[in-house]
Amino acid sequence: MHLDDNGQQLDPLLPGYSFNVYLVAGMTPIIENGPLDFFIDRNKGMSGFIINMTVKGQGKVFDGEEAFITEPGDLLLFPPDAVHYYGRAPQSANWYHRWVYFRPRAYWANWLKWRHQVNKVGRLTLSDKAVINEFDDLFQQIEQTHKAGRRSSEDLAINLLERLLIRCFEETPENRSKPIDLRIEEACQYLSRNLAEEVNLDDVARHVCLSPSRLAHLFREQMGVNILRWREDQRIILAKHLLQSTCSPIAKVAGLVGYDDQMYFSRVFRKRVGTSPSIFRKTSEGSPVQCVDAVGADSFADFLGSQN
Ligand code: FCB
Repeated sequence: MHLDDNGQQLDPLLPGYSFNVYLVAGMTPIIENGPLDFFIDRNKGMSGFIINMTVKGQGKVFDGEEAFITEPGDLLLFPPDAVHYYGRAPQSANWYHRWVYFRPRAYWANWLKWRHQVNKVGRLTLSDKAVINEFDDLFQQIEQTHKAGRRSSEDLAINLLERLLIRCFEETPENRSKPIDLRIEEACQYLSRNLAEEVNLDDVARHVCLSPSRLAHLFREQMGVNILRWREDQRIILAKHLLQSTCSPIAKVAGLVGYDDQMYFSRVFRKRVGTSPSIFRKTSEGSPVQCVDAVGADSFADFLGSQN
């Protein structure tokens, strides 16, 4: 049985699975005339990204002029607005592919813009056997780590996925030039150091010696997202961590990540994570190993200091 008590599909390999998660990984072994031998057809795309790698046989992506074949060592990246239409290539007896579905961290933007695309789907071919094995291994580690049921399984799996994406970036020959602008890197660090403060665009611009409009433009160009949205994502990532690893009241967590108004924080949190901060805390696996409170700290930096 792959259905839960409410009739929801629990198996991501079968149609109907909701993908209402931050990360899920698997391997789809398609054999001619077997139960998985159908075309995945998601014509509106998905809410998250998918990266996949063919490990055996051949797959076919799209129909008509845009159709192409994927073989062992070929990677594909589907951004949220890309159409998914793929299955076993008719001439191949099977198609095995590993995949990870994920919602990216904001600072990953650079690694998610693949140079070669067909219909928005990024393509990368690995030809070196050792590199193919390394990638195959990484995919497996992501899946196993995520399924291990540890307290930080998801964070560890996301950490491995980040490595996979960075390796894809490195393996793309054209990416060997044009590193990220140092002023944008400094802007990210400045914002991260001051997540609890109400730093505005003018302050950041002054700090990195750019005009506010130039900073906004360059940030979006280089990071792929708006600067304030980037900071919001970082705040929510930190809030998730604090909710899981401390027993500080929610108002305190809100303050530590830059929201003086707890109601507003809860609204943003719910919009980004899908549940309220308190439900997120309750449903996070395990309870804090040691109940650490952040009371007394005025900033996240203070909080970290008070733990040493
Ligand atoms: C599975 C597919 C796989 C990927 C995941 C998200 O059902 O087999 O290719 O699309 O869903």
